[in-house]
Amino acid sequence: KKPPASVIFIFGGSGDLNKRKLAPALFNLYLDSWMPEKFSIVGLGRTPYSNDHFRDHLLESVQEFSRRKNEPESLWNEFAQYISYLEMDAEDAASYSKISDYVKELEQQWGEHPNVIFYLAVAPQLVPDIASKLGALNICADTRCTRIVIEKPFGHDLKSAHELNQQLTGLFAEDQIYRIDHYLGKETVQNILALRFANALFEPIWNRNYIDHVQITVAETVGVEGRGGYYEQSGALRDMLQNHILQLLCMIGMEAPLSFEANEIRNKKVDVLNAIRKITRDQVHEYAVRGQYADGWMKGEKVKGYRQEDKVDTNSPVETFAAAKFFIDNWRWQDVPFYVRTGKFLHQKTSIITIQFKEAPHFSFPPEAAETWRSNRLTISIQPEMDIRLRFQAKRPGQSMTLNPVDMIFSYHDAYDGQEPEAYETLLLDVMEGNATQFMRSDQVESAWKVVMPIIEAWEARPPVDFPNYAPDSWGPEDAEALIARDGHNWVTLP
Ligand code: BG6
Repeated sequence: KKPPASVIFIFGGSGDLNKRKLAPALFNLYLDSWMPEKFSIVGLGRTPYSNDHFRDHLLESVQEFSRRKNEPESLWNEFAQYISYLEMDAEDAASYSKISDYVKELEQQWGEHPNVIFYLAVAPQLVPDIASKLGALNICADTRCTRIVIEKPFGHDLKSAHELNQQLTGLFAEDQIYRIDHYLGKETVQNILALRFANALFEPIWNRNYIDHVQITVAETVGVEGRGGYYEQSGALRDMLQNHILQLLCMIGMEAPLSFEANEIRNKKVDVLNAIRKITRDQVHEYAVRGQYADGWMKGEKVKGYRQEDKVDTNSPVETFAAAKFFIDNWRWQDVPFYVRTGKFLHQKTSIITIQFKEAPHFSFPPEAAETWRSNRLTISIQPEMDIRLRFQAKRPGQSMTLNPVDMIFSYHDAYDGQEPEAYETLLLDVMEGNATQFMRSDQVESAWKVVMPIIEAWEARPPVDFPNYAPDSWGPEDAEALIARDGHNWVTLP
């Protein structure tokens, strides 16, 4: 079923996010017949564009960034009729009447009141002002149909996130606010819920009695890609760990939801965040590791060190790598370590979650069989491979009883046709449908900040002395290996 009539206003219409993600996602939804019967996409911004010029600008983006590159131009031309551009200065309160007028006009034309969606694809410092000017519009009082979508970063720390929440919830009902964490829209991430809660097989062993530890790696082979200005205010901990990685941790750690209702799922996730053992500031060195990339070679190409990147301080203390060990203090997970790591310019682009099971309680084989003995593990590959691998022991064929670990693999590409929607497609459709399940509620965001605040504070209080401390194309600083090796484990990577 298609979503109801919708008008989507994109603040920052000519910006990067619209170009790379939103426009391609909306076009793909259109191609897949998911867009409403009646819809309108309106780019807002100060750059003067005619409608045609704006459409051409988006066509170029779609051709460059969409997962589908070779659609006939006639389909784009059909879709482009739904796109327009309104020149407005978002700082000027008077110009917001253009928005109300536009909605009124559509309402008359369509003979129904549409969903009105405001997508704030703008720099975070502009969000409070735009939100308060929108909040003053009459259409925003309609809590059923009007929605506001906010991108990360959501605040810079607990205090600023709390203030932003206070402000937004003073202007809009919580149900109207869609805080995006695009990892939650990824097909393989959503599948974690299916794996865990649509099968009776895994749940009985999904706990401290059978699981030795969990690992989450989100490794990138790109550097900061010209986003030095943003990254200097952020760093790996704020950019990836506070949001994407903690959300993955919640999906692995959460209790079974009673339903897929948005608040039910979000309650279960927030329970995990609230149960994460608080690290004190003076324990941080035992539980967290930071790194920054030096200059060097990345897949045969010479690359700059982080401190030489554009708009980056030559003495920058900002981390481009972060690893941490967390515990979830509850019945299910008591004393099971969750190791997480993320970084830029690492050796392999890979996002994987590994559930490492405990050893078999008794080893009944001849001693020589144990050579390659390793216990069971389940690896969920989120990207770029999309698969789930269950590792178990098999007998190597031959006359002796030699054990050999083998993987049973479910691969998306073998099982399905390989045309999964992108995260932004899923999330934009959810916004139009009014489904907030895959979005961050205010308390979730704040609980996630609470988890990382001691690390932020300890790091800020003691600037790093060894930066840069890892070479591009490596797996990050040695201390990250030590963090997990101290407990007798290694980071798992896929071959
Ligand atoms: C964004 C971060 O949220 O996620 C980027 O700001 C990062 O720094 C990106 O590169 C990674 O997303 P994905 O979907 O490519 O894994």
